[in-house]
Amino acid sequence: MKKIKNITCIGAGYVGGPTMSVIAQKNPDIKVTVVDLNAARIAAWNHEDLSKLPVYEPGLDEVVKEARGRNLFFSTDVDRAIDEADMIFISVNTPTKTYGKGKGQAADLKYIELCARQIARVAKNDKIVVEKSTLPVRTAEALKSILHNTGNGVKFHILSNPEFLAEGTAIQDLHHPDRVLIGGENPEAIQTLVDIYAVWVPKENIITTNLWSSELSKLVANAFLAQRVSSINAISELCEVTGADVNEVAYAIGKDSRIGPKFLKASVGFGGSCFQKDILNLVYIARSYNLNKVADYWEQVIIMNDHQKERFADKIIKTLYNTVNGKNIAFLGWAFKKDTNDTRESAAIYVADHLLEEEAFITVYDPKVSAEQIYADLDYLGTRSPEENRRLVKVVNDPYEACQQAHAVAVLTEWDEFKTYDWQRIYDNMYKPAFVFDGRNILDKSVLENIGLVYQGIGK
Ligand code: UDX
Ligand code: ADP
Repeated sequence: MKKIKNITCIGAGYVGGPTMSVIAQKNPDIKVTVVDLNAARIAAWNHEDLSKLPVYEPGLDEVVKEARGRNLFFSTDVDRAIDEADMIFISVNTPTKTYGKGKGQAADLKYIELCARQIARVAKNDKIVVEKSTLPVRTAEALKSILHNTGNGVKFHILSNPEFLAEGTAIQDLHHPDRVLIGGENPEAIQTLVDIYAVWVPKENIITTNLWSSELSKLVANAFLAQRVSSINAISELCEVTGADVNEVAYAIGKDSRIGPKFLKASVGFGGSCFQKDILNLVYIARSYNLNKVADYWEQVIIMNDHQKERFADKIIKTLYNTVNGKNIAFLGWAFKKDTNDTRESAAIYVADHLLEEEAFITVYDPKVSAEQIYADLDYLGTRSPEENRRLVKVVNDPYEACQQAHAVAVLTEWDEFKTYDWQRIYDNMYKPAFVFDGRNILDKSVLENIGLVYQGIGK
């Protein structure tokens, strides 16, 4: 198989953008073109001012600066990029279905299918097609079927190469991956992709498997990680009634090398584009094979997570004398975790929704999330009208303004800057008693209590 000279990636999102930027950075002799239907997104990727890139990721601007215009290009001309490519990554979104069979659980593959049909229509020579999005197991089969049955008689090799980067640390994860996983059937096609990664990833960290193992591993990795978070969150509730401290418990159990310390931080609940979607997918797949016990087992991880978000909102209501009606709640953070502007499935959205049902006023400050995004997230829920969301929720650019005349402050994201605020100043401008609900256990309880704030963390 000939050496890869041109790579195209369809989908310029949180996965496609950073991943292709690093592949281009590390392989200066390969031309990498990232395409997207969304012209505004492509324009942002091409923006001269690197702070305007559509994805916020520490270190991404440096990588883009190095490679863009050299061998990294962003474009809306999908057909042309497909035509030129030797290898095509599919990095389009695969949201949970919101309609029809599998609604609320199965992954919606319509974007993948559209891509496959477009590739089949345009391709005039043999190509390697790489699944990069998180997909249900056996999507490669569907992909193969469409490509082989609708193409122009050219040959396609399908590979699965799931992405394991976590947002907020994407560049670090891409530069030093724990492993790269490549699944496929054709050894030569697999090798061409191995060669691209081997430029900077040690060979022993590049794992090759069959297609289905690769696809399934991605779902399972996310399910295991999410399960740890739900497990510690379940224990946080127990700690709150027994007087144990969840941080101490997590530390103590994490010292056992068989358990390990990571992903044991109790929180207001996990969010992000992957965990919930992938588990729902796993559950759906298990049920479709009639493995109901397996499905129930994994579904519990989601049930626990929903409970944790609701419990946090309920705690605020209960502590504020059983009513938040007309009260001001300041939200510090809206993103699903720190160091990202991504808000997909963020716990903040659901906590806000719950409090708004109780007719609270919410003022949000997040260092990286725009007001437009916050309103879009709330409107998407469809719980109340867009006008009502704008009447009840205010978004500000200054944390002190957010906390001004608040009855309570709720920390929803673990942004580092929240720890260094002038909490005396925040306290002075709040209604008394002034409550802080720390959904991430990042603030110093004793410092806050000395100031006079009433502090409640998770699992303490
Ligand atoms: C995840 C996987 O980690 C990554 O490998 C995969 O490619 C995509 O999905 P991501 O969603 O970006 O990455 O972030 P992650 O760091 O996994 O956090 C997910 C959620 O869990 C966040 O809301 C985070 O705040 C929460 N979390 C994580 C906790 O509440 N406690 C923890 O201990 C760890
Ligand atoms: P992820 O987190 O998986 O990267 P995103 O939603 O951030 O998901 O990005 C997926 C991108 O894929 C979006 O920018 C969307 O416009 C793009 N996309 C979806 N379908 C197509 C398609 N058929 N052709 C080109 N781009 C597409």
